[in-house]
Amino acid sequence: MDLNFKNGEELFQFLLLGVLVFFTIILLIVVLNIFMTLKAILNEKAGIKTEPFTLNSLWNKLNSFRPMSEEKDILLDHDYDGIKELDNHLPPWWLGMFYGGIVFGIVYLLNYHVWQWSPLQTEEYEIAMAEAAEMKSQMQSTSVSSIDENNVELLTDASDIDTGNLIYTANCAVCHGAAGEGGVGPNLTDEYWLHGGSASDIYKTIKYGITEKGMISWEGTLKPTDMQQITSFIKTLAGTNPANAKAPQGEIYVEEEAPAADETEAEESTSEELATL
Ligand code: HEC
Repeated sequence: MDLNFKNGEELFQFLLLGVLVFFTIILLIVVLNIFMTLKAILNEKAGIKTEPFTLNSLWNKLNSFRPMSEEKDILLDHDYDGIKELDNHLPPWWLGMFYGGIVFGIVYLLNYHVWQWSPLQTEEYEIAMAEAAEMKSQMQSTSVSSIDENNVELLTDASDIDTGNLIYTANCAVCHGAAGEGGVGPNLTDEYWLHGGSASDIYKTIKYGITEKGMISWEGTLKPTDMQQITSFIKTLAGTNPANAKAPQGEIYVEEEAPAADETEAEESTSEELATL
């Protein structure tokens, strides 16, 4: 039996089962006692002496065999090289278990297969799996790992961009400027990026930070959806040329789906950079 109780309900069911078993045993003893007493009364009327009901007499009854003195009456008439067979009756404890087993089997059959009150093993398994799937989907809907740098997608809804703007103003503007023009932190409106300008790169920078350079990790403060909204907002800043823009830092980032002309430009600038080295 699985004794790892997942919740109070399971513990309660287990205790209930224990109490039921206990009372069943008590009931059996009481019924047995009444039965023995009745038998003793009847025997007395018929003039047969019976020993009083004690645990010892119960033990003897449970194990009763016909005594040695009666062996000649129960001796079967075959004889194999001196080995003989007695037709003794079965011990009552064994018979009790045998009939008890039959009763249990019937109850089991009715419960599981006829009325189907309790689920079978495969059903129990399926129920448990369904519960686990339910718990998993609940976890995922609240968990922080549903959006990350590998699957982040840019949001385009005005409400998401506005929320992104609000969160940016509250947390980021001190270092990156109200319009993303830069300050302590780099300019976020130009096409130069220190850590990459793709949605995934920006999300990653925000999430993990560049702590050794003064850009903190926001993973613990902002929800994944917040970081997604800020990322989307930052992407809308591209090319806005705010006043007091900080000088470009890092490499030119070219959007993957950008026209080929820009790419050659980017390549040219890298080769120019290499040439100046
Ligand atoms: C305490 C100042 C500070 C705050 C607040 C701050 N940043 Fe930064 N951020 C920096 C610095 C400094 C860097 C440059 C790190 C480097 O040099 O590698 C940076 C870099 C970045 C970059 C990478 C820029 C690039 O060129 O690759 C992004 C994106 C960024 N920050 C976004 C944010 C966002 C979004 C927030 C608010 C949630 C924020 N930062 C809050 C200081 C800050």
